[in-house]
Amino acid sequence: MGGSVGSGRSRHVSRRTLLKAGAAGAAATALPLGGLMRLIAQGDVGNSPPVRSFTVPLPRPPLAVPSGTTPEGLPLYVFHEREAFVPILPGRPPTRIWGYEGITPGPTVSMRAGQKIVVRQVNELETGTTTHLHGGDTEAIYDGYPTSLVPPGTSFDYVYTGEDETATLWYHDHAIHETGFNVYQGLAGMFLVSDANERALPLPKGRFDVPLVIQDRLFDKNAQLVYPFDDDQHQVLQQGVFGDVFLVNGAPKPFMRVGRRKYRFRILNGSNARVLTLALSTGEAMTVIASEHQLFEHPIDTQTLHMTPSERYQVVIDFAKYPVGTKVVLRNQFEDDPGDPFDEALTRQIMRFDVVADVDDPSSVPADLAEQEPLGVPDVRRHWEFARKGGQWVINDKVWDENRVDAVIRDNTTERWTLENGGGGWIHPIHPHLVEFTILDRNGRPPEPYEVGHKDTVSLGPNDVVRIQFTVDEGKAGRYAYHCHNVEHEDDDMMTQIEFVL
Ligand code: C2O
Ligand code: CU
Ligand code: CU
Repeated sequence: MGGSVGSGRSRHVSRRTLLKAGAAGAAATALPLGGLMRLIAQGDVGNSPPVRSFTVPLPRPPLAVPSGTTPEGLPLYVFHEREAFVPILPGRPPTRIWGYEGITPGPTVSMRAGQKIVVRQVNELETGTTTHLHGGDTEAIYDGYPTSLVPPGTSFDYVYTGEDETATLWYHDHAIHETGFNVYQGLAGMFLVSDANERALPLPKGRFDVPLVIQDRLFDKNAQLVYPFDDDQHQVLQQGVFGDVFLVNGAPKPFMRVGRRKYRFRILNGSNARVLTLALSTGEAMTVIASEHQLFEHPIDTQTLHMTPSERYQVVIDFAKYPVGTKVVLRNQFEDDPGDPFDEALTRQIMRFDVVADVDDPSSVPADLAEQEPLGVPDVRRHWEFARKGGQWVINDKVWDENRVDAVIRDNTTERWTLENGGGGWIHPIHPHLVEFTILDRNGRPPEPYEVGHKDTVSLGPNDVVRIQFTVDEGKAGRYAYHCHNVEHEDDDMMTQIEFVL
């Protein structure tokens, strides 16, 4: 174990300093819901400087490389969480970020199912951090518990042991009440797991297998990140923090040169609050082969792909359909995002694929991808309501309490949960840690065709009632977080905990 774990909620001078550098005196008064709109109306927060679309090439986060092995013989990755100044907006000063290894997104971790690895997080920031592998089958002590903060100047070794199938995971900070701020500064990265079945399939691989981390951000005129919040109340803007520029893998509305062949994309909606509906400007279908965990039984073609924050999909796009010279824009068609204060025209374009060459394509998408296990019969049923009441985000009328557990889940039992949106027009992406669930239905109807497979985050739209089912058989015990993944809702305090017992 490298270092100690502290706990407790803390307040940080560094964050105030950053705010001043960013939002130039955002009002430190109590902000009502819709506060971002008010700050914009007051002129305290403006739009980002204009960014021309498709002028910056799409970067690819580097693959993480182990720097050695632990005494137990496990591959050891060492990440330094640190502040850095990185060029993001062309022609503007570098942007101050917080990144794993000083980059955002952080390095992509790639491991095989059945493998065990250790990631040492060295905290070189001035604030306590805790790192969560989202979707991981991780022992509770390594899961990034919100109050298990790693103090500045220390490190913690996270052991990842449990992945047994292909998965598109991501890692991000999970500090209590500060997750939104910390992730917004850049503390997020991809974490891919491959299994033998998937590696044997002729799917696009290697450099044709590309992560796309999509995030919206707001910049000031000096190209610094703006994250307005109420410093006195220590509350972020409760509806969620939105930006008016898309970053993909950290670059603003980039372009990517592609050959006339199939590419496989691991798409993450890494935004704090923004909901996406992805579509290609050509109107052509994309082929979805997986959601968050496992490959689908069969590929599913869709023209639009709805993604709330933290949802992931594996998508194959075949550019052989297009002649050389075609430019295909990846668009966001989602409208009326509650809490989005910006003109929707600003968040239409995400990135562009420029078809530049004829190439061979040995890859294909088989009609049969992976076998699915049948669903069991539920032993336990639970009902959860996600709502806004009394000026707070609540789950079954309660806010986060470190000392309260709202469900005790026994290993090897099958649970069926009803998730109900308590109204108000809000969208809540719901995420229980350690659980991979199947969506049974939404409002009594089947979910979207691509919402199959094993998921760990589900969109609970306005007035939605979604039923999910899962069987926990991970052999893990302990308390895990369960929350809304609009991270501002999570921070304020739409989160509870579930306890797993053997
Ligand atoms: Cu992305 Cu509690 O997680
Ligand atoms: Cu998680
Ligand atoms: Cu929510």
